[in-house]
Amino acid sequence: MIFITGATGFVGSHLLKALQKEGIEARCLVRNKEKARIVESLGFEAVIGDITDRGSLRGKIRGARVVVHLVGIIQETQDITFDQVHLEGTENLIEEALSAGVREIFYQSALGADINSRHKYLQTKGHAEELVKLSGMDYWIFKPSLIIGPGDGFTENIKKVLSLGPVVTVPGTGNTKFQPLSVDDWTRAFLIALKDGDRQIKTYEFGGPEHITYNEMLRIMMKEMGINKPIVHLPIGLVKAGIPLATLLGRFTTKIPRVTSEQLDLLQIDNITDIHSMERLFGFTPEPFRAAIKKAL
Ligand SMILES: NC(=O)c1ccc[n+]([C@@H]2O[C@H](COP(=O)([O-])OP(=O)(O)OC[C@H]3O[C@@H](n4cnc5c(N)ncnc54)[C@H](OP(=O)(O)O)[C@@H]3O)[C@@H](O)[C@H]2O)c1
Repeated sequence: MIFITGATGFVGSHLLKALQKEGIEARCLVRNKEKARIVESLGFEAVIGDITDRGSLRGKIRGARVVVHLVGIIQETQDITFDQVHLEGTENLIEEALSAGVREIFYQSALGADINSRHKYLQTKGHAEELVKLSGMDYWIFKPSLIIGPGDGFTENIKKVLSLGPVVTVPGTGNTKFQPLSVDDWTRAFLIALKDGDRQIKTYEFGGPEHITYNEMLRIMMKEMGINKPIVHLPIGLVKAGIPLATLLGRFTTKIPRVTSEQLDLLQIDNITDIHSMERLFGFTPEPFRAAIKKAL
């Protein structure tokens, strides 16, 4: 049996469908009864808890062979910080897994995560990787680029941007490169790595089959959605200055994407690795962005 955190999120829910097909048993940590019902309806066990609350995890991991740790946040709020979720949460989970006698842990980090990053999201994901490496358990870590599929946060936000007003606004030049991969390829890679008894590779850094700019992704999405609007590039400083207003308006409508200053900065740095990473690491060729986005839309 595997114990999963973050099973109700975008990646986690796709993982559950894949595990269901494979007949792999899992127990999922969820945050409330409603989410528990969703997980149970798919034939998995659910336990209620929050990784930032050590007490809520007590006894819940017992009997698991491997802990699959997917929880992550991309924005801090007034109530929760990156440190609390990525650091304290991972620490709590590791302590509980060790006391339950679990021998193996998987951590979903992110491409570019690094303890020396000046971006808090990437820095705290990097620190969480270190905690996992030092846990004493066998470990494997995924560091994927942008993951695309039905329900992913990136596509949902871009859909909102595309539907707002007569022009499409892009923060900065839009020339930053990404290496998006489909969530189906992520789950395929996960299952290959899960079943790998050898575990020669511990850290898997990977992305899809292209290095593609933000502008190119936008153009493909507009074509797929039948939208034809001019693209207007805005200076980052100007977009940042508009965040308080967008946040305020966001309280009244879900049409405006909520974006933080750090996310705008991350949008300006390339998020790419070896173009053949998935062939090399998992032995298959991932699908291109166009195919992945069609399914996501
Ligand atoms: N999506 C991408 O493109 C991408 C790329 C690279 C890496 N990643 C990493 O992949 C992981 C999953 O991403 P995602 O896109 O699936 O995120 P997501 O859709 O936001 O899902 C996050 C999951 O974490 C759970 N969660 C959040 N805080 C929690 C807490 N304190 N205690 C317990 N559960 C908590 C959420 O539960 P609720 O359902 O209750 O909210 C949800 O199940 C993250 O670690 C992310 O950093 C994602």
